[in-house]
Amino acid sequence: MSTNVLPPKNRKVLVTAALPYSNNRPHVGHLGGAYIPADTYVRYLRMTGADVRFVCGSDDHGVALMITAEKEGRSPAEVANYYREKQGQDFAGMGISFDIYSGTSTCPLHHKESQQFFKSMFDKGFFEKQSSRQFFDEARSAFLPDRYVKGECGFCGTADQNGDQCENCGKILDVDSLKNARSTLSGELAVVKETVHWFLDLSKFGAQVERWLETAKVREQTKAYVKGLLSTGLVKRAMTRDISWGIPVPLDDAEAKGKVLYVWFDAPIGYVSFTKELCEREGSGAAAADAWWRSKDAEVYHFIGEDNTVFHCIIWIAMLSAEGSMRLPDGVIVNHFFNMQVPGGAVEKISKSRGTAVWIGDYLEAGGDPDSLRYYLTSIASEKARSVYKPDDLEHRHNGELADTLGNLVNRITSFTIKHCGPSVPEVDESKLADVDRALDSSLRSAFEDATRELEGHSFKAALERIMEFARQCNKYVDEKAPWTSRKTDMEATKVTLACVLRAIHGLGVMLLPFIPNAAAKIVSAFGREPSQARWVDAVEARLGGAPLSQPPILFQKIGAPKQ
Ligand code: 2FM
Ligand code: ZN
Repeated sequence: MSTNVLPPKNRKVLVTAALPYSNNRPHVGHLGGAYIPADTYVRYLRMTGADVRFVCGSDDHGVALMITAEKEGRSPAEVANYYREKQGQDFAGMGISFDIYSGTSTCPLHHKESQQFFKSMFDKGFFEKQSSRQFFDEARSAFLPDRYVKGECGFCGTADQNGDQCENCGKILDVDSLKNARSTLSGELAVVKETVHWFLDLSKFGAQVERWLETAKVREQTKAYVKGLLSTGLVKRAMTRDISWGIPVPLDDAEAKGKVLYVWFDAPIGYVSFTKELCEREGSGAAAADAWWRSKDAEVYHFIGEDNTVFHCIIWIAMLSAEGSMRLPDGVIVNHFFNMQVPGGAVEKISKSRGTAVWIGDYLEAGGDPDSLRYYLTSIASEKARSVYKPDDLEHRHNGELADTLGNLVNRITSFTIKHCGPSVPEVDESKLADVDRALDSSLRSAFEDATRELEGHSFKAALERIMEFARQCNKYVDEKAPWTSRKTDMEATKVTLACVLRAIHGLGVMLLPFIPNAAAKIVSAFGREPSQARWVDAVEARLGGAPLSQPPILFQKIGAPKQ
């Protein structure tokens, strides 16, 4: 079967997924936002024969982690190590196939890499040393970021406002306009102190960001959002912080003492240090990471949630442009957040504090099927706007689409074939195919071409919908051809039907490998093929006549139905 759309060959692609803070375990919003789309893309690319690496790890620094450590009575390193391990388990449980899951506080190369990056920008004159006044907690000897101070709005008097903006009158608050500010760490009144930091003037990089946006693979609404930020003007942002947990500022300057790099400065550099760590593990040496980050022949894609857009599409682009030795990412794929709606309840934000998060660890421990969550999160993917996670909708789609449309098709056709034709795919003379049989083949080809196009364009939801549409066409074909009736009068014609639908089922199995790897592997294995060896084009090119056929296990038990 020939196709018009084939994935490009010989690509070298580095895919990263946002480094989660290691003071938390992932919930469904995290998975659907960054990790499942990234994993789907990576699995697809591997099947095309591309040389791919999938890099991730935890983001261990920053004030939030220090606060968790304080609350839990542990050191920041202990907290980071604890959550990193849990995150690794949760991701593995969901089939997220990272080549490395490292951590910014444990990767042996990350401190040096980040400091060199900072130093290189400093040597080129990109940082401005500036003094500013900030709230300070004397009891804790700590400067307080905006969200760690609360006080009254100096404009309208509303109590309990954070250090950045008044929720009532909308005015921007600062050390002068937030009155009676208290530290949320100690509860003590905050004092105001002068502190020195190294600022990056982002306004100098507006043109670079704009140029990058012209060619980068970035969704339209992300592009519009970033352009909007560019048009309102970029500002200077401090790239250093006054906290004790982090990477020391690598400057020979008495005022740099005790300061660390801003967590959002060192975090994206983690993508580079983890790639180096991976290359070392693979035996090619850290220098081999240049083939990913400095070569024109490689491609780099970052998958992130919407809240990380500014950091990846502006600050990281500015940092890379300033440092100058590495490639800019070829794409930043941004998904929106999910909201949550339990039956009978209102649509709410996913929130840890309000208890509206579905934690991956809980889902898996309760025996949830990773494939059905992957399927659901992809099919409601928030590529253009926020979508809503509804547990009863997950159940509905699991039962209707995975168990009925897909699972039932696979099950009834394999068992019928084995029972009436024996344990192999019937071999048929292609000239015996009627128009309706050829139409199924051409539907397979066009589903394959469309899905390939959508995957290349990072439209995973559309690709999955297209594949499932083909599964429905297969069911329709089987219902129309009714092999259970035709076998009584015309076994040859029945074999043609079975051969055609089995080819389609195998194609479905191959195309679904990136989306629902466990169930799809069962389909491919039923044809005596090794799923890990499956190539993307096998969906349309595999020759199956005479191939061994075995009965796969039930792909999806219906939720709510007694176990079979
Ligand atoms: O939002 C977050 O969870 C951040 N830790 C993401 C960092 S992504 C990258 F830059 F490291
Ligand atoms: Zn106010």
